[in-house]
Amino acid sequence: MNDLVRVERLSKVHYGSGLLRRRAHAVSAVDSVSLTIAEDSIMGLVGESGSGKSTLARAILYLDPPTDGTVWIAGMNPATLSHAEMRQFRHTAQIVVQDPHAALNPRQSIGAAVAEGLRNRRILRREREQRVSELLDMVGISPRRRNDYPQQLSGGQRQRIVIARALAMEPRFLVLDEPVSSLDVSVQAQIVNLLLDLKQRLALTYLFISHDLNLVAYMSDAIAVMKDGRIVELGGAEEVIAGPKQHYTQVLFRNAPSLLQTLPRSVL
Ligand SMILES: Nc1ncnc2c1ncn2[C@@H]1O[C@H](COP(=O)(O)OP(=O)(O)OP(=O)(O)O)[C@@H](O)[C@H]1O
Ligand SMILES: [Mg+2]
Repeated sequence: MNDLVRVERLSKVHYGSGLLRRRAHAVSAVDSVSLTIAEDSIMGLVGESGSGKSTLARAILYLDPPTDGTVWIAGMNPATLSHAEMRQFRHTAQIVVQDPHAALNPRQSIGAAVAEGLRNRRILRREREQRVSELLDMVGISPRRRNDYPQQLSGGQRQRIVIARALAMEPRFLVLDEPVSSLDVSVQAQIVNLLLDLKQRLALTYLFISHDLNLVAYMSDAIAVMKDGRIVELGGAEEVIAGPKQHYTQVLFRNAPSLLQTLPRSVL
């Protein structure tokens, strides 16, 4: 299988802002991380809070560009792209974050939120309407609800809209940064299964970030473990789960709360 994502010695130093923008306050949040993600696979990324997972994700997508190192996604190195090519990069690689409430504009209908991405891609109105219906349908929301506003939806439904909006860009790579952490456990399983179903149907590649080791084990083909800005363990999911080499990983796994009752299958 080809690698869709390749990251080489990526580092990110946060310098803070304003008065704090001094060397003394520099935080090395990501430190020389290298990894590859095979096309049509899921890489799970775990690690304690503050270990640098979100910083790494945003650096890979160039939302917060890295201070050092190189990224390739679908053959594109964002550091070298023209403005027009960067648009293509932004379409190819999308992010879904934890809080769907914050991610949606309360004054924009859910249909308009999904259509926005299509407009960015210069898809004409007639086709846009059709495509919005298809996308809503794809994430399990009735297209008849397109004029509803985010606050009329449940948390799980809102996350479905955020996912539809990302899919509108026809991405190949999705970063899922704690995509179900804000949801009830029963709803988590539904969204997880939706994500797995979409991945299958659209041959997507995921970087799946979660605190929940059981969930990561359930979803991932490969697992990377982060600590203090570095990848301390990386391998096939079964290998990492069956025999974590690092003491840090062993402790993380031992403390994982179990989701087994709510999930139809698990490798654990
Ligand atoms: N914008 C920022 N400015 C300064 N420091 C930051 C910034 N964002 C993150 N950090 C610091 O970088 C480190 C990594 O943070 P990051 O949010 O990437 O961790 P995380 O693994 O995603 O944590 P969590 O599991 O809580 O989401 C932390 O020490 C954090 O305080
Ligand atoms: Mg985070």
